[in-house]
Amino acid sequence: MPEQVPVIAIDGPSGSGKGTVTQLLAERLGWRVLDSGALYRLVGMAVDGAGIGFDDTNKIIKIANRLHAEFNDGRILLDGRDVTDLIRTEAAGNNASKVAAMPGVRAALLDWQRGYARPPGLVADGRDMGTTVFPDAGVKVFLTASAAERAQRRYKQLKEKGLPANLAALRSEIEERDARDRTRAASPLLAAPDAIEIDSTALGIDEVVQRVLQQAHRVYATSL
Ligand code: DC
Repeated sequence: MPEQVPVIAIDGPSGSGKGTVTQLLAERLGWRVLDSGALYRLVGMAVDGAGIGFDDTNKIIKIANRLHAEFNDGRILLDGRDVTDLIRTEAAGNNASKVAAMPGVRAALLDWQRGYARPPGLVADGRDMGTTVFPDAGVKVFLTASAAERAQRRYKQLKEKGLPANLAALRSEIEERDARDRTRAASPLLAAPDAIEIDSTALGIDEVVQRVLQQAHRVYATSL
């Protein structure tokens, strides 16, 4: 039997701090990172770029199966084109959420995601890491924060980048996307029954990282 690779699954809604927590954990542990949201964002972008309607499920699934993406030194390439910043826009997030609701798209990305689990370990960031992609992960975290706090964080991020931002619009987009992610039939955004739930509304990122590290040390003492 192949040896189990240690996996920390970090799930939760957009803006809960998952991305930052994932990066910090991976740095501390020297493990790999899976940014699964980036894969859905890439599919959304490829669909948009091909001029296909977001209701054309069959064509979208074909695109997901043939996706040609590369992750190199923090840059993300789609068909050879650097889309690292482009996939982070609100529009790309909304398109990602639409394609992510399609079971065929999720199936197309499943093996790709599982392939990231290689020694010495993996920190996986998404919505269904602990429930569907890595159900045997030793550490599962469901990270939340209030919608108001998440909108505020996103607003700050955009302003820091010199990009236009409207707080009320961001909050309603976040709530709309959450509702779609939570209510879809395929792998909805849901805490795994064995996940630790952490509300980051009033917690610093370092505190969240410390809590997850404590759990990782308990579970994977021999691998760390
Ligand atoms: O984490 P993110 O904001 O980059 O994710 C973009 C969209 O992709 C989000 O609306 C939900 C979807 N997603 C998903 O359904 N499953 C994942 N594992 C990751 C993201």
